[in-house]
Amino acid sequence: MLRVMILTIVYICVLYLLISLFWRWMCRNHYFPCPVWLIWVLDILNLSITSRESGTEKTLRRMGLSPGQIVLDVGPGAGRLLIPASKCLLPRGKVIGLEIQFEMARLLRDRAKKAGVNNFSIVLGDATKLNFRPGCFDLIYFCAVLGEISNPQKALENCRAALKTEGHLTVTDLVCSPLYLSPRTVIALAEKAGFRLSSKRGYWYFYTLNFAKLKE
Ligand SMILES: C[S@@+](CC[C@H](N)C(=O)[O-])C[C@H]1O[C@@H](n2cnc3c(N)ncnc32)[C@H](O)[C@@H]1O
Repeated sequence: MLRVMILTIVYICVLYLLISLFWRWMCRNHYFPCPVWLIWVLDILNLSITSRESGTEKTLRRMGLSPGQIVLDVGPGAGRLLIPASKCLLPRGKVIGLEIQFEMARLLRDRAKKAGVNNFSIVLGDATKLNFRPGCFDLIYFCAVLGEISNPQKALENCRAALKTEGHLTVTDLVCSPLYLSPRTVIALAEKAGFRLSSKRGYWYFYTLNFAKLKE
């Protein structure tokens, strides 16, 4: 019995690794955002056994959201972070989800409605063509998204312009994400886009990097 269980786990891990490698390879030639039918993989990070130590709750603690902030969630997916984040911002604060896929945005809206959240809005758009008023956000976060964006450098530069002078950027990634970026890569991209690393939480396999916006 134990042998069967171990073998099943090994098969699942190998299969996941093969899918991840295929996905990375595909993304070299085509733009391929996380499909709606795969969102259950991220939902695993929302379970009570994963959330506190390796998932949603831990990421939210590391980002340091506070009530009243105006926040941008880039690539919110089905709202795994956006829904609890919007609760952390009450009263008066709000989160805007910038999502590139229409179907994903619809799923997010349905889930947020079900969760009774209303201090949020969804904008359908591409982070590389951000069209927000300059200096309108207190905090912008990316979670398991930056590697999926066709031009992450451009997306970070756009975010810099959309942040207030004292605004913060935070980037979280997990090694299980097929388009994972290492902390070193993210720091290099963010510094080039005009940010300074202010704190680093976690380890290479599940990290959150917090950045301050550099003055002109
Ligand atoms: C892997 S999911 C992560 C979802 C969520 N951040 C989480 O951690 O649960 C990535 C999401 O980013 C979106 N996305 C990818 N490229 C984008 C872009 N250029 N602009 C906005 N959203 C994008 C995808 O459609 C997808 O919903």
